[in-house]
Formats: sequence, structure tokens, C-alpha cells
Amino acid sequence: MRIGYGEDAHRLIEGRPLRLGGVAIPSERGPLAHSDGDALLHALTDALLAAIGEGDIGTLFPDDDPENKNRPSRDFLRAARERAEVAGYRVIQVSAVVILDRPKLGPYRDPIRASVAELLGLSPDRVGLCFKTSEGLTPDHVQARAVVLLLPLHQPKAPVPKNT
Ligand code: C5P
Ligand code: MG
Repeated sequence: MRIGYGEDAHRLIEGRPLRLGGVAIPSERGPLAHSDGDALLHALTDALLAAIGEGDIGTLFPDDDPENKNRPSRDFLRAARERAEVAGYRVIQVSAVVILDRPKLGPYRDPIRASVAELLGLSPDRVGLCFKTSEGLTPDHVQARAVVLLLPLHQPKAPVPKNT
């Protein structure tokens, strides 16, 4: 099996939409970012690429490429999933944490889990998602951390016992 870890952070500014795990969250502030700034999907993308030893999100989608401006972060995670499948692996479990002081994210837990599960081809019960405040340490940032576990797409067949 393979394991990958990723994290991401974005500064929050007025008048930008906040998206987490592909879900729109009502908020006065959103991430300052070249893409849509979905910190959870960015952390997951890095975790997947790390698990297969293929660099990180900036390797696949450089942030100085105008094609990537305001690009939905779903594209990044889908691409990482494809790379993992080409390498012969599929995600079987996700554990992630989002650190944000406001707004409260609890009401969005199930939609975010469903969205991440759909993007990765998983059942939602395989997506663990915790929310934390920063206790005022980083009130102007959204942060995400994620671990993914991958298994081979095709398990090697058990050897056929020889007749003795
Ligand atoms: O950070 P703290 O431990 O004080 O958070 C308490 C609880 O508040 C968390 O366990 C989580 O359920 C919830 N929370 C939330 N949305 C946030 C931050 C925390 O729902 N943005
Ligand atoms: Mg990011």
C-alpha cells in the first residue's frame, strides 16, 4: 500500500467565494488564490501525488500558467487521481482536517464528504473530516491537512498451489 500527506493554506480576503472540498460555503471572506483556492482539495491533491512519488500540485499545474487562473480545484484532484490510477493505485481512505476560525463548518460536513468521496470514487464513510478553529492564531487564513491511503488497483493473484 501507499500513504500520502498534503497540506495547504490561503489568506482570507473580503469578497472572494469560499470553497472547501468542492462545496460553496457562505462566508464574508474567501481565499486569495490563483485558482479557486480550495485548500482541502489542494491538500488532497498533494497527498495523492506524494503517495505515488510524483511531485506536487505546482508540478502538474504551475500557478504562473494563465490556463490555471480561477481553475476549479476539482480539475487538480481529478488529474492526481488519474496519475495514481496510471501508477496502478486507487485511494481507499482519506483523513483530513480543515482549520478555520469562521464560519463554522459543521453544517457542511456531509456535503463536503460526499463531494470528496465522489471525486475520488469512494464511499463517503471512507472520508474522515475534522474541523478546527486556530484558537485565534491564524484568524485570517484557511488551512487544510490530509492523509490518503492507496491500494494497488489489481491485487496480485495468490499463487496456485502445486500438486504434490
Ligand atoms: O477548534 P476547536 O477545538 O475549538 O473546535 C471545536 C469544534 O468546533 C470542532 O471539533 C468542530 O466540530 C467545530 N468547528 C466547526 N467549524 C470550524 C471550526 C470548528 O464546525 N470552522
Ligand atoms: Mg491552495
